[in-house]
Amino acid sequence: MRQNLKWALAALMVTCAATAVPLAASLADDGASPIFGVRIPEGYRDWKLIAVGQEVALNELRGVLGNARAVEASQGGALPFPDGTVFVKLAWKHVPVEGLDGAFVSGSPTTVQIMVKDSAKYATTGGWGFGRFIDGKPVDEAQHRTCFACHEAHAKDHDFVFTRYGR
Ligand code: HEC
Repeated sequence: MRQNLKWALAALMVTCAATAVPLAASLADDGASPIFGVRIPEGYRDWKLIAVGQEVALNELRGVLGNARAVEASQGGALPFPDGTVFVKLAWKHVPVEGLDGAFVSGSPTTVQIMVKDSAKYATTGGWGFGRFIDGKPVDEAQHRTCFACHEAHAKDHDFVFTRYGR
């Protein structure tokens, strides 16, 4: 009887292991950015606003949100940002308000962009992992190769982050 129970348990463990492996593998490829493996964080849309930005060539308005660690570090102003800091940049088309000259609102969303601080994992890119998403899906590897180069060239003196806390 005891022997039967042992076999039953062993069979159960094998079944679990067999199903767990493909599940883990499919989760790993699904929705993560190339190179960095960054994902869109759960609940980010309710994070606090750090500040806003604008991109004239793309005709976009941007809002940069941060998790609790990003908000605290941005308010305190001490650098570098601690591990676990996450910034999410939302971008929208810049749309004029009809009949009200000079007034604009945000239109349809274009991209969601993410920076995650993990100084050991992302040691070769200033401690930051990057992700750019359109309709929830990561863009290609070539685009992800451009991220750190520009942040390094223009925001090195602020731990590669452009946005300052907007009071
Ligand atoms: C040509 C320069 C350039 C490239 C390339 C670039 N960025 Fe940025 N990034 C900026 C600028 C400028 C800002 C601040 C203005 C704004 O909000 O748009 C910014 C802001 C951000 C922010 C908000 C935090 C911060 O630094 O202010 C995130 C997140 C971000 N970028 C992610 C990315 C990702 C992911 C990529 C690559 C897929 C990328 N960026 C590529 C210039 C660049």
